[in-house]
Amino acid sequence: MIRIYPFFRENNVYIYSGENIIHDTNKIYSELLESGYSSNIKIPYQILKDIIEYSKLSKYKGQYGEKNYLINYENPSNPGNDIWYGNYNLLKECDSVKKLVFNKDVLKICESYLGPKFKLISCHSWWSFPPLNNKSNHQYGYHYDIDSPKFLKIFIYLTDVDLDSGPHVIVPGTHKRKSIKEKLNRRLNDMQIESNKNYNNPIIKIGPKGSMFFEDTFAYHKGTTPVKPRLIMQAEYSI
Ligand SMILES: [Fe+2]
Repeated sequence: MIRIYPFFRENNVYIYSGENIIHDTNKIYSELLESGYSSNIKIPYQILKDIIEYSKLSKYKGQYGEKNYLINYENPSNPGNDIWYGNYNLLKECDSVKKLVFNKDVLKICESYLGPKFKLISCHSWWSFPPLNNKSNHQYGYHYDIDSPKFLKIFIYLTDVDLDSGPHVIVPGTHKRKSIKEKLNRRLNDMQIESNKNYNNPIIKIGPKGSMFFEDTFAYHKGTTPVKPRLIMQAEYSI
């Protein structure tokens, strides 16, 4: 049974005091501060299983259309003309999503990073598909997010993600500050990132389904252009 306690602060975040998900929260927090992302954390098997079962039954909306689609989890294929299809109802429809998003260890990291008055501002999952006609699509290019003055995301892979599945990529350390040039260039192409000596080598996040990581996406990041479909879930916390 889920036990969700009202969080004692004036926000919309609740603490689910269930199992320990993160064994060393100090290590994860230090990684996040230093590099803008954490190493992969394996989410509990039952939570993953529940979320995947839920994902099989839920519908996904294309980027530019109102139509909702069922997407076959075992054998996904692009149901329309978009490259992303999102589900924005998972927090209210799947208890195991709450168990994860409001897990005490997750919230502890959020509080360390964002201070006590943070909120959950979004939670959704999406399928990404190879670009139509294999054309390159700028939506898979490097960029940084400017969702609020300070925010933090968790990403959870819901399918196995290898180099062909559109793994998430981050340029370590770029979450800390932006030069004037960077302020003017929220999107950069691969060459601009790879040829710039100020940037460390981009980190490619591959991992089996159930891999979760924290990331401050004020850092330059991208989803690699996928060859195979990928299902991912994200929750975003913000001051
Ligand atoms: Fe982004």
